[in-house]
Amino acid sequence: MRIKRKNPSRFSTLPDEPVDLNLLDELLEKYAGKQGSMISLLQGTQEIYGYVPKSAISKISQKANLSESDIFGVVTFYSQFRINPVGKYIIKVCHGTACHVQNAPDITYALMTELNVEDGATTDDRLFTLESVSCLGCCGLAPVITVNEDVHGKLKRSDIPKIIKHYKSLEGI
Ligand code: FES
Repeated sequence: MRIKRKNPSRFSTLPDEPVDLNLLDELLEKYAGKQGSMISLLQGTQEIYGYVPKSAISKISQKANLSESDIFGVVTFYSQFRINPVGKYIIKVCHGTACHVQNAPDITYALMTELNVEDGATTDDRLFTLESVSCLGCCGLAPVITVNEDVHGKLKRSDIPKIIKHYKSLEGI
């Protein structure tokens, strides 16, 4: 669960970037006519796009006969949902108790400095999103970060540049 987020106050203030809405068709078909499927629809939508785009909310509203404002309310209530586009690599820094006492704030600061991005934001090149989260479930490795599915544990601040360099090198940067 993410522990920091910045929400706009209204549906109309959501970013409206063009996405391929055809990617939603299979998901909408799967849940067509099923009551109580809003959360599943939104989880599936986030799996497709990495976040819940504004235009996807509108399409779900039309096809599943749900109001945009109800969907928006759910998306902004639950911290599992993202409302902004994310980077290719999502970096989660654990700030659970075990990681916090092992200097997780230092790790976040090192990442903010290395990536030149705020906590909770995405780099301008859309490569990295930095998030603070609660326990990632591998406290023995504290302090821990994940980069997409990869786990990096027992980190020191000085490890951060080479970790970022590794992911940039995968992109030929
Ligand atoms: S507190 Fe960080 S993994 Fe559990």
